[in-house]
Amino acid sequence: VGLDQTTQLSLRPQIIELGVGQPDPRLLPGDCMRAATAAMLAAGWEPLAYGANAGPENLLSQLALRIAQSEREPSLSEMIVTGGNSQALDELCTLLAQPGDAVLVEAPSYNFALQILRDHRLQLVTVPVDENGLVPDAVDDVLRTLHEKGTRPAFLYTIPTFHNPTGVSLTLPRRRQLLAIAASNDLWVVEDDVYRDLVYSGSAPPSLWTLDDAESVIRLGTFSKVLAPGVRVGWMTAPRKIITQLVGGGLRMSGGGPSHFAAMAVAEFMAAKRFEPHIEHLRASYCGRRDELSAALDDLIPEAQHQRPAGGYFVWVKLPRSFDTEELLPIAEDAGVAYVPGQRFYTGGSGNRYLRLSFSMYSPQMLRDGVLRLRTALDRAGA
Ligand SMILES: Cc1ncc(COP(=O)(O)O)c(C=O)c1O
Repeated sequence: VGLDQTTQLSLRPQIIELGVGQPDPRLLPGDCMRAATAAMLAAGWEPLAYGANAGPENLLSQLALRIAQSEREPSLSEMIVTGGNSQALDELCTLLAQPGDAVLVEAPSYNFALQILRDHRLQLVTVPVDENGLVPDAVDDVLRTLHEKGTRPAFLYTIPTFHNPTGVSLTLPRRRQLLAIAASNDLWVVEDDVYRDLVYSGSAPPSLWTLDDAESVIRLGTFSKVLAPGVRVGWMTAPRKIITQLVGGGLRMSGGGPSHFAAMAVAEFMAAKRFEPHIEHLRASYCGRRDELSAALDDLIPEAQHQRPAGGYFVWVKLPRSFDTEELLPIAEDAGVAYVPGQRFYTGGSGNRYLRLSFSMYSPQMLRDGVLRLRTALDRAGA
């Protein structure tokens, strides 16, 4: 098998890797990016110089127009280009938190974001997610408990739209309730909005950033899932005072904007009007995969519970009885399928009846085969 030294993606040939939450390499826009990069380099030296601290203005202005079509138009002073959501979250930890500070996180939440928060020595305080998303009443309760101890959390990290790992979206009333709680408690909300464009049923709910009128929300968007994770380019829409501090911080003063070369190539890709058709193609491909994975679960493992997600990459499966999904994994791998055990998305060891499946990497037929192998693993483990 061996680790791939060039990319994070390492697939084992005998295994259907339903644990991998990455774009299908066959859906990466190689030809279009080659053309965009060539056009960019032909236009001048700028991509090879240090970039503007906030990111290239031609990318920011195109993003602002695009965001304005479905949300509200950010001014350029409310935006920066980032090196993707992981880099942006790390930069925000540096700006907003000190080691030892509390941060609120969802239970469950994206496992590697939890790792970034831990890297900053932050204390993770959890609030539950149910089938309607994060529970705002629980945020209120936790804030009160922290307040009684004389503690104020540095921020709340949330994935309100097509959540990783559960696939659920925060309902509109809960969005409003959460924003009211944030406003009255002076709480920063970091909205990880990575899957917004990958919507398969209806339209994506409005972002917290769009609904926010109290300047509480910092929203992170990324090209990782809708173009290519290798470009390491994303964006942030946030209150001006946050943007001003990031732009004037040592990291950007010294090195300029992150991923500058790639950001200029992405700007060229957008200017060539290639982005929207590409997203349409992704939606159509992933929608069929989502439908097949969900149908295969219903057909082959009817005793497990799952909700078909309206967008994103993931189906969150609850097994009927107390299989420990961490212990089940080697049995599943022997049967030729992998997933991510639920415990990895919690801070305190719960979640062992859950597993996360991703439908992004494989064709519908392979997804069905993967579920069939999972059925075999469950039968073997139950035997
Ligand atoms: C919720 C969430 N946030 C962030 C990321 C990573 O984003 P980026 O590639 O922009 O760093 C992922 C990727 O799986 C994700 O699911």
